[in-house]
Amino acid sequence: MELLDKLNWRYATKAMNGQKVPQEKIENIITAISLAPTSSGLQPFKVFVITNQELKEKIKKIAWNQSVVTDCSNLLVFAAWDTYTADRINKQFDLTNTIREFKNEGWENYRQMLLNSYPQKDAETNFNHAAKQAYIAFSLAIVAAAFEEVDSTPIEGFDPAALDEILGLREKGLRSCVMLAIGYRNSEKDWLVKLKKVRKSRADLITEID
Ligand SMILES: Cc1cc2nc3c(=O)[nH]c(=O)nc-3n(C[C@H](O)[C@H](O)[C@H](O)COP(=O)(O)O)c2cc1C
Repeated sequence: MELLDKLNWRYATKAMNGQKVPQEKIENIITAISLAPTSSGLQPFKVFVITNQELKEKIKKIAWNQSVVTDCSNLLVFAAWDTYTADRINKQFDLTNTIREFKNEGWENYRQMLLNSYPQKDAETNFNHAAKQAYIAFSLAIVAAAFEEVDSTPIEGFDPAALDEILGLREKGLRSCVMLAIGYRNSEKDWLVKLKKVRKSRADLITEID
């Protein structure tokens, strides 16, 4: 299957069958997450990969009782930095220098520019910016899952404050923003599986400016 065939095949799965996804496929999805582009390359988020059934049960209760939360194979929780700090920015710039094995004046100036702007902004603005970066990675995870012919359900339908509490995220300087349940569809129980995909027309979505 070509990528577009796979994107047509994927849908926001409403019922899963509990079957485990091979670890190799999970690792490929995780790699896609890590390869996502982010603003200034800061990757200002962490991803929790949950297979613990007891924990999934707890999360389901604060996620509108959506069955995929417990019937998925792996539940991914995307949690963004609660703010940008000098320490967090420096760590990522230092990592770049370590990996590339050189220091570059332009890059160091850019570091200073970020240090002189992000940490001074209010935490909510910074969290919202960080959350946008997490969503880019979340999006790649959806595509990667489809590429692996694995089903997934994007989930925003949960109480973020309650999820932060369950996972102890605020103590880690993180806030949950979105989840992705990964597993295999239960075609018999899924009301959406046979329905046509609904998308705006090209004309409605795209404006070409030549
Ligand atoms: C950020 C985000 C949050 C979503 N939250 C939920 C959710 O909590 N539960 C659910 O069943 N579907 C959820 N969806 C699925 C959307 O409703 C679905 O992607 C959309 O209707 C398009 O359908 P398709 O993905 O099947 O093509 C979410 C999708 C996105 C992108």
